[in-house]
Amino acid sequence: MEKKVLGRTGLEVTQLSFGAMELRFGPDGERKVADEAAERLLNAVLDAGINFIDTAPDYGLSEERIGRFISSRRGEYHLATKCGCDPADKGGKGGHVWSRDQLLKNIAGSLQRLRTDHVDILQLHNPRGDDVPMDELVDTLKEIQAQGLTRFISISHTLPWLNDLIPMGVFDTYQIPYSCLEPQHHDVISRAAEAGAGVIIRGGIGRGGPEAAVTRRVKTELWQKAKLDELCREMPPPELILRYTLKHPGCHTTIVGTCNVEHLKANVAAAEKGPLPDDLYNEVTRRVAKAME
Ligand SMILES: NC(=O)c1ccc[n+]([C@@H]2O[C@H](COP(=O)([O-])OP(=O)(O)OC[C@H]3O[C@@H](n4cnc5c(N)ncnc54)[C@H](OP(=O)(O)O)[C@@H]3O)[C@@H](O)[C@H]2O)c1
Repeated sequence: MEKKVLGRTGLEVTQLSFGAMELRFGPDGERKVADEAAERLLNAVLDAGINFIDTAPDYGLSEERIGRFISSRRGEYHLATKCGCDPADKGGKGGHVWSRDQLLKNIAGSLQRLRTDHVDILQLHNPRGDDVPMDELVDTLKEIQAQGLTRFISISHTLPWLNDLIPMGVFDTYQIPYSCLEPQHHDVISRAAEAGAGVIIRGGIGRGGPEAAVTRRVKTELWQKAKLDELCREMPPPELILRYTLKHPGCHTTIVGTCNVEHLKANVAAAEKGPLPDDLYNEVTRRVAKAME
């Protein structure tokens, strides 16, 4: 599988990587994933050669499962988690708390659950609001980095915040949503990469597009309005979406999520075919732009 350098981190990451959010639910959850299935899937991710995994303290069982089932293979994957997460916030619904104490609590808990002494990337998890003490959070990330608990400091965010975050120049990577069904961040991804940062794309398979197990109304509507079915030829829709995402020169890696081994295999096969050919990519871009007018 093709690898790219994740910006100034220098890490060589597979362009298709794994978003472990889908492993958050146990056998009683909304989207049931038994431990045995989670163990099989995580090992299949590594067996496929994928070498980058993204998770977060607020993805239910995700961190704990990574620790239990693949920490013995820790040398085979770069690991990213997040901070600022407080699953107990908002009356147990989960939210974020932006303080030094919360970040220190998060990384200690993550390392314990992930059964490792360090993560490679620690990301602020979408800090929003006027009261976010950004300078204090960056200082705390640097403190955690100085202790060797993370190699790089980062942020997951969206527009318009990215416009101010990129010029700060302090983050080694940015996690940004993008696909042909969510193209709004196309230019800011280029700017982040040109500034030397690593770019981690999320949402790169458009949540499965029209084949989504968890449907997102707007994305499915855009697929239909742009008549992208007509462009699929022999290609399943998730392959078209993923290979479109991989075409972005600023996409160093895309953390596609799945709890289905067959989907994982299909995604690996799609990524190995590489980005879409120019003519197809240009036509998808044209149709989506017109559908969004
Ligand atoms: N704010 C943040 O920082 C933030 C927010 C959201 C997500 N994330 C991270 O980004 C990762 C990915 O994000 P995402 O889940 O929003 O987007 P995504 O990777 O585009 O979509 C994942 C969804 O696509 C489906 N899927 C994957 N491959 C498929 C295939 N071949 N055919 C049909 N369906 C397929 C999966 O369902 P199946 O399980 O049925 O395959 C899953 O529901 C997450 O795991 C998480 O690590 C970060």
